[in-house]
Amino acid sequence: MGKKITNKVTWVGKVDWELTTFHGEELSTHRGSSYNSYLVRDKKTALIDTCWLPYDKEFVNNLKKEIDLNKIDYIIMNHNEIDHSGALEELLREIPQTPIYCTAKGEAIIRGHYHKDWNFVNVKTGDTLDLGETKLTFIEATMLHWPDTMFTYMSGENILFSNDGFGQHYASESLFNDQVDMNEVYYEAQKYYCNILNPFSALALKKIKEILALNLPLDMICPSHGIIWRENPAQIVEKYLQWADAYQENQVTLVYDTMWQSTRLMAQAIADGIKKVSPETTVKLCHAGKEDKNDILTEIFKSKAFLIGSPTINNGFSFAIAGMLEMIKGLKFKKKKAACFGSYGWSGDAVKQMTEHLQKSGIEIVNDGVRQLWVPDNTMLEECKKFGEEFAKAL
Ligand code: FEO
Repeated sequence: MGKKITNKVTWVGKVDWELTTFHGEELSTHRGSSYNSYLVRDKKTALIDTCWLPYDKEFVNNLKKEIDLNKIDYIIMNHNEIDHSGALEELLREIPQTPIYCTAKGEAIIRGHYHKDWNFVNVKTGDTLDLGETKLTFIEATMLHWPDTMFTYMSGENILFSNDGFGQHYASESLFNDQVDMNEVYYEAQKYYCNILNPFSALALKKIKEILALNLPLDMICPSHGIIWRENPAQIVEKYLQWADAYQENQVTLVYDTMWQSTRLMAQAIADGIKKVSPETTVKLCHAGKEDKNDILTEIFKSKAFLIGSPTINNGFSFAIAGMLEMIKGLKFKKKKAACFGSYGWSGDAVKQMTEHLQKSGIEIVNDGVRQLWVPDNTMLEECKKFGEEFAKAL
């Protein structure tokens, strides 16, 4: 059933407690998610976004309990990935002539997904839709994070419907930020930013500054995932300005995989060396073969520098590290320094290969890394510790 946001806005989305991964297996969602859809009732009625495809019938049935579908004058699609456009087909079976307001790219994406000749109305930045006492203004937000993305601002109620922007994969019984554990929400918001929006940080920074320059009154930010920013909505905008600007904390993260513990021992010794030179730095060790890849990437996001470690296996590096390196490349981290390490038995190629991979991903390489043959003894571990000390000094 719908939940009241304001006198004119009702949440009609779906809370997905069961979701454990998103984008296939690309992104872990330990705390579920929600697909937020909003019904705006003024003299005219608009529905903003729908929900993910598996819940399309549930969505439309619940919507019918809230409103006679024929009273919906407009459908606004801020972004048309299937988690938001998934119920369109089910909905438009009932109200096929209802105009869909979206960007031109949005229309192309909907056509590409559903292959239907629906009643599209293309909108651009600054276009408006009068609902009576309130008005919707559309703001294109291209590549945040798809080409079709736009935000919708509702004047009168002073709400920004930001779709994925400012969202979090966070299932909650409560709708608002003042009713939930904000430590959890901020963890999920940062993980979301890192794993979905970080490659587009330059565009995010520009777009946020452009919107702030409009000086729009802002009472709420209603994203399409997670909780609504009602109490001090500017707080998440401030965070985005920091996260989008080559974000880093005083942290170094060591991400390693290990076969017989040798590379793990090296990781610990390097960490000890970093800590010796820089005791105030947070140093974290992450086992790429065992821990969640997206949580590890979020640790890298927070770091000023990181190290990647893998034993040499079959003249290359491990499966888990290969995945991490590919994801690091895709997320386009800025202003981060790195080096590599690993144990080996004969060819010992991994360190050089990993270093080259990071270099191609735009990471600043501090040095050629460190390798140890077979199982490191105390002397070799002392070398690793020294390596950590030198790495810390170079930051
Ligand atoms: Fe939540 Fe890009 O879809």
